[in-house]
Amino acid sequence: MKQIKKVVVIGAGMMGNALAQVFASNADLDVTLRTRQLKDDRYEPIKKNLDIMIAGGAATEAEKEAIVSRISFVTDLKEAAADADFIIECAPEVMEVKQDLFKELEGCSRPDTIFATNTSVMSPTEISAKCERKERVVGAHFWNPGHLIPLVEVVKSDHTSEEVMDATMELLRACGKKPIYCKKDVPGFVANRLQHALWREAFYMVQEGIADPATVDDACKYGPGLRWPALGPMENSDMVGIQLSYNIHDYILKHLADNHEPSPCLKEMLDKGDLGFKTGKGWQEWTPAQIEASNTGLREYLIAMTAKQK
Ligand SMILES: NC(=O)c1ccc[n+]([C@@H]2O[C@H](COP(=O)([O-])OP(=O)(O)OC[C@H]3O[C@@H](n4cnc5c(N)ncnc54)[C@H](O)[C@@H]3O)[C@@H](O)[C@H]2O)c1
Repeated sequence: MKQIKKVVVIGAGMMGNALAQVFASNADLDVTLRTRQLKDDRYEPIKKNLDIMIAGGAATEAEKEAIVSRISFVTDLKEAAADADFIIECAPEVMEVKQDLFKELEGCSRPDTIFATNTSVMSPTEISAKCERKERVVGAHFWNPGHLIPLVEVVKSDHTSEEVMDATMELLRACGKKPIYCKKDVPGFVANRLQHALWREAFYMVQEGIADPATVDDACKYGPGLRWPALGPMENSDMVGIQLSYNIHDYILKHLADNHEPSPCLKEMLDKGDLGFKTGKGWQEWTPAQIEASNTGLREYLIAMTAKQK
């Protein structure tokens, strides 16, 4: 496999800007961000993210300058793709848009170019349906905010070659990310399956009056959630022992939520127009100050974690 030198990011939205920043943090890469309109303030979102990181000690002015200097913007898809080694799309989450984009990119790039999709939930196998070189299409699911969360789920479609999986994992590692190898193209990949198994139980407990919404969140934030950055469920099971894991599941699994439809509470809130932060009411009521505090608190926490890892 040729060494990856030129990375192209398609779509200069929230994720596209974050991903361009991530790839440009590697001094060996040239990064092109394909945008549909060349605006005067096109570097602003990236500079803003970096300024916040600098304020939190997670980046320096010199790093900001170097990162920005490695990113160029183009509007023409053919020009962007012509000599690309790795292209990742951050276009809207619409199947046909992604399929057509990859088909078009195939027609204007080298035969060995890798095509990655940052889709949140769609199947990379389905996204590659209109491509000739399906083995060169791979899922690369970054988590938002893409420049701060280390995890990237690298998803093997039904056709992705091992060479493409390895090259993608290697590239992401070289950009400071923590890629994980997802062996099967299944809905939710790996991390969202874990997350939504937890959300299902959380919603169920509120629905059944077992705990209030804030109590459920506290149970995560001040309890097992503190361990999760250091201890995943598989290691935890080995730590407490396979016998105890067996006994606990033998007793408790039958009592846990196993619904295959969204919680009726969600439907009820939707019908009432209670949309969460957007309307100030969802599971709980939110003042503008509380919403701001939640968003800022999360960002500051992630930046402090990033600064610690440096
Ligand atoms: N927002 C998140 O939390 C998140 C997290 C992980 C993955 N993703 C995925 O990343 C992708 C992009 O999400 P986003 O939040 O950055 O969206 P966004 O709306 O911020 O950005 C989408 C960009 O794509 C451009 N675009 C529109 N039509 C296009 C086309 N036909 N071809 C190429 N570009 C086009 C838009 O101009 C815009 O700049 C989606 O697939 C989304 O599911 C999003």
